[in-house]
Amino acid sequence: MVKVFVPRERRPGETRVAATPETVRRMVKLGLEVAVERGAGEASLFHDAEFATAGAHLLDDPGAGWEGADVVLKVTPPDAAEGRLKPGAVLIGFLAPYRHPDMVRALAAGNVTSLALELVPRVTRAQPMDALSSQASIAGYKAVLLAAWRLPKYFPLLMTAAGTIKPARVVIMGAGVAGLQAIATAKRLGAVVEVSDIRAAVKEQVESLGGKFIELPQAESGEGQGGYAREMGEDFLRRQREIVQRHLSQADAVITTALVPGRPAPRLITADMVHAMRPGAIIVDLAVEQGGNCELSQADREVVENGVTIVGPSNLAATMPHDSSLLFARNVLSLLQLLLDKEGKLAVNTEDEVIAGSLLTHAGQVVHKPTAELLAAEVPV
Ligand code: NAI
Repeated sequence: MVKVFVPRERRPGETRVAATPETVRRMVKLGLEVAVERGAGEASLFHDAEFATAGAHLLDDPGAGWEGADVVLKVTPPDAAEGRLKPGAVLIGFLAPYRHPDMVRALAAGNVTSLALELVPRVTRAQPMDALSSQASIAGYKAVLLAAWRLPKYFPLLMTAAGTIKPARVVIMGAGVAGLQAIATAKRLGAVVEVSDIRAAVKEQVESLGGKFIELPQAESGEGQGGYAREMGEDFLRRQREIVQRHLSQADAVITTALVPGRPAPRLITADMVHAMRPGAIIVDLAVEQGGNCELSQADREVVENGVTIVGPSNLAATMPHDSSLLFARNVLSLLQLLLDKEGKLAVNTEDEVIAGSLLTHAGQVVHKPTAELLAAEVPV
């Protein structure tokens, strides 16, 4: 019987859990034996008793859980002190390989098969496993609520006995999964929403949500591989900043989500542009972990410059842990199901494009090429 272990997340501020009573019930039905560390779901309001009712064993000692498991399900990259997987075991989670080279080396050396959720290919068949999307959508939603909460104004147009209130003006930069959810949320709250992105395909999606698309010079195509953006030249970014500046100077709230895979986040808002904004305005920079879209953002800090508040929340999905865990756990289970054969045994089919694309380490090797290249280029200390 395949043994699955779900530890409590230990990184500061992490409130999510990689399995819920719903997914435990489904795993048990698939013939898996599931152990959950006691208290693993407390922060996301999934209680031990619910896990037990769903068929999980509750473990007090996480070390024993790691050692005995064939599969460990995690939200964030494990650090060395959390526990050791046995050779041939499987690890699934957000593994941020570029930021944790030592972890990647240890996984390969320990012959662990690790699948990083950030590597799941963005193909139609892999949508149920797409944790980047389920969590980014939450971040986009929460970023707008954060801006609305902090803004010294209403979001909607209001006709009151005391006269009319104009709607808030919101600029959203980057209309991927987080940006599109931010547009939808800001529109539902009644704001006027303007949007900048460099991929031409986005314009229609923005307009269908009621946003106004800010036209950019289309000399260069912003389309990269796999539906993602590509890195634009500095000349393009300068012209983009000039165009966007006019919209920013009228904005009450700005949500930035612009990312380019494997590269630092594009710098879309300079300190000078912040100085030209209205005092009282707020910028929520969701790209802060990749260096930020705004020059002044700092991770999980609030910066006030010329009356403009800039916040860079690094883990908004963790501020809504119940639903983020619910969706995350379903994503993880969908990926785990791909690794099981008809008898419920582990069978890692490296010919499957979703599995092949998601694999970080396997059979003692770092199989994700960009990570392997990065590790090879690192100077040993
Ligand atoms: P992302 O998080 O990598 O980037 C966010 C947005 O920033 C993108 O829309 C990108 O074009 C934009 N951006 C990059 N540079 C910019 C700049 N200089 N100015 C303004 N915007 C800039 O993207 P995300 O959210 O991961 O989505 C990437 C694509 O994948 C989208 O087309 C999305 O619809 C697609 N997708 C497909 C799925 C599937 O078919 N299974 C599932 C999820 C997403």
